[in-house]
Formats: sequence, C-alpha cells, structure tokens
Amino acid sequence: MASQQDLIATAQAMVASGKGILAADESTGTIEKRFNDIKVENLEENRRAYRDMLFTTKDLGKYISGVILFDETLRQKSADGTPFVDLLKKNGILPGIKVDAGAKPLAFCPGETITEGLDGLPKRCQEYAKLGAKFAKWRAVITIGKDIPSRTCIEENAHALARYAAICQEAGIVPIVEPEVLMDGDHTIDRCEEVTEWTLNSLYDALYLNKVLLEGSVLKPSMVISGKSCAQQAGVDEVAERTIRTLKRTIPSAVAGIVFLSGGQSDELATAHLNAMNRNFAGKLPWPVSFSYGRALQAPSLKAWKGAAANVAVGQAALLHRSRMNSLASTGKYSDAEEKQAKAA
Ligand code: 13P
Repeated sequence: MASQQDLIATAQAMVASGKGILAADESTGTIEKRFNDIKVENLEENRRAYRDMLFTTKDLGKYISGVILFDETLRQKSADGTPFVDLLKKNGILPGIKVDAGAKPLAFCPGETITEGLDGLPKRCQEYAKLGAKFAKWRAVITIGKDIPSRTCIEENAHALARYAAICQEAGIVPIVEPEVLMDGDHTIDRCEEVTEWTLNSLYDALYLNKVLLEGSVLKPSMVISGKSCAQQAGVDEVAERTIRTLKRTIPSAVAGIVFLSGGQSDELATAHLNAMNRNFAGKLPWPVSFSYGRALQAPSLKAWKGAAANVAVGQAALLHRSRMNSLASTGKYSDAEEKQAKAA
C-alpha cells in the first residue's frame, strides 16, 4: 500500500504552481457528441488519433500536471507504439483515470442522478495503479430545478464520492472528488451559491466519516455562477468572489488543492473566472486554485483538428495556447492582451 507521503506528494504535484489538469476522459458516448460536432466518426482509431494529437503536444507538460483518461485510452498507444501512459510520464505529466460508471437515475428522486461504479472498485483501482494511473476522478451531478436538489441526492452523492475516495487512497491513487452543480437552468447565482455550499458541506462531512486523507486529495468543483438561462448574468468579479467565499466556508485548508471544471462555460470565460479568483484573492487562499477543464481546454483544438492528420499541428497549437492561458490564470496573470497577442501570432 502506498504511504500517506506518496499520496501527498502526488496530490501536490497535481496542483503545482502554474499547472492544471487536462480532462480528456470523455466516455465513448460523450466523445461521440464532440465528434458529431466536427463530423468525425466515433471509431476506436479516431478516438486514439485524437488523444494522440493532444498528448504529443510539445511543451504541454509546462502547463499541464496531469491528464484524466478514459479506460480505453489508458490502454492505448501513440502512433509510434509508445503507450500513452509512458508518453505522458516522459513529458512530466501524471496519468489519471476516470473510475465512475456515470450518473444514473436516482430512485424516488425524479430529475436527479446518483453516480454509479462502487461495485468492484477496489479491484479496478489495483489494476489501474498497475497500469500506471496516479490519480482518479469521480463526478457527481447535482441539478438545480423546481424543488431540487433533494437532500437524498446531495447526501447519497456525497456518500458515493467519499467511498470512492477512500478506496482510491487504499490503492495508492489520489482521488479527485468532483461534485458538479450543473449550470443548466434559469436559477440565480444566489441559488447556485446556496446549493454549492450545501453540496460541499455534505461532501466534507462524508469524507471525514470515510477517513479520507484530505492532504492526499484534490477537489474539482463547479464555480458559483448564474444559471445558463438566467436573465441576470453575474459578472466575472462577482463569480470569483462568491466562488471563493463558498469554498472558504466549506473546504478545509488541509485539502491539497482545488481544480475547477468548466461545465459548459466558454473557454475564454472559464479562463477569466479562474484568473479573477487568483488575482483578486492573491495571498488570501489557503489552497492552490487551478483548472481541470475538459471542454474549455479542448474545444478550439477539436475544431481545428476536424479528424485530419494534416491539421494535427494547428490542433496542438490551439491546445497549447489554452493551456498556457489557463496556466497564467492559475497565478492571476492572464490578460486580454495575452489572449490577443497569442491569437495574432
Ligand atoms: P468540463 O470542463 O468540460 O466540464 O469537463 C470537466 C470534467 O472532467 C467533467 O467531468
């Protein structure tokens, strides 16, 4: 079994200054949606080629500390035969693995889900550790709507996240705990703040009950933000202020770090929000605050690639650019000038 020191060292490397995590763990079903947008067929070879483009991006390790992989990808190889896991390690990037089996309808709770995947998880974690995974991810989904979320949804998802986290740590894998409060809906930012605070409070209670080593764990929350179709959209500084306020009220300072999901925000807005948190609260945050974006890192790269080998270089340039912008944001140094300058280049 890995020592506590090993877990802590890995967690700290994941949130090293100026770095964040690339979420490239789309399930076969989710990547199909992304491929549909660029009219690429969802074949194993296309999925492999797409991830190959991302992971062979030169200098990616300057800005990215870890990549979250899907089971299939963890077992795949680069075009030259190098396993993706080895390729990432060679570039100073930690391989991670999504271990949840997805959000499924929660009995007696219409419109709500529970994330499944605990059955057999200890064995799967042991195998993933052998295959080289250093950290894992489990995503819980909390939906805001009329009369929801329910207490059942909040507490059962917290319980599953905590059980997952403890199982990972026993296998020497650092858990990313991801409770996503969805931005879908017309709810206000006040409602989002209230639900996020409740969700996180419940989560840390469950993590305590399950004896999870907080120093060897990473939190991946959503930001406190206005519902996507709410008429009144909060500005960047307000999102930063409310998000940090909520995290400070709920997250023990022992947690190794916080890395946000992008959740459907545009790529530049996700960067601006992260930047405002690190700029406006410089020196006042008890944990590193960085990114673990999926769509907000990959969208421009995917669009540039379009499934063609000839577009690999532009696809990689797009990924490197967004990675660098978010790296700057993780230390509060992102600016419009940086964004435009790089675009013009
Ligand atoms: P998004 O940044 O696209 O929300 O993805 C992050 C993630 O890993 C969701 O589980």
